[in-house]
Amino acid sequence: MRNIVLIGFMGCGKSAVGRRLASKLKLKHIDTDSEIEKVTNRTVEQIFAKDGPFRFRSEEKILLKKLAGKQNLVISTGGGIVLDEENVELLQKDGVLIHLFASPEVIHKRVKGRRNRPLLNRGNLKQRINELLEERTGAYDVADLAIDTGDYNVEEVVKEIINFLKEGKYLS
Ligand code: S3P
Repeated sequence: MRNIVLIGFMGCGKSAVGRRLASKLKLKHIDTDSEIEKVTNRTVEQIFAKDGPFRFRSEEKILLKKLAGKQNLVISTGGGIVLDEENVELLQKDGVLIHLFASPEVIHKRVKGRRNRPLLNRGNLKQRINELLEERTGAYDVADLAIDTGDYNVEEVVKEIINFLKEGKYLS
């Protein structure tokens, strides 16, 4: 079966939905941020702070190349992974892409009070979210399905994804 790949901006539920979806479908769950933290033995913030964003982006690419050809995975990606064209190609080759999105207000509510996202730790949070969303306009349009997670809880999003997978005969 093709991998189920969750893409989208920070705070849109990719990790929580991915975990639940994988458990429901009895598939292995890979969270790219956690995987990178495991292999580098550092947190995402530490990588950004010590080695900079390029190192982090390069870890993302190394991981996707390692995953190439693998199937039956639910992959929750970091919000910036699809900014690289080759990454998108790698993800699309073996997977169906699902874009989880939410309004800037919902994103703000979900990420405020958390300091684990280096790209959001500078300046005014609301402004920063809007700035990045603007910069990334269209970047997530590579998905086969888009779901507004502001309207639903994790369980409902998972249900909608499963319905879509069944209709498209992606589930084996
Ligand atoms: C990033 C999103 C983060 C993490 C890193 C960069 C981004 O993942 O990969 O902080 O560029 O949008 P989440 O989307 O899981 O927060």
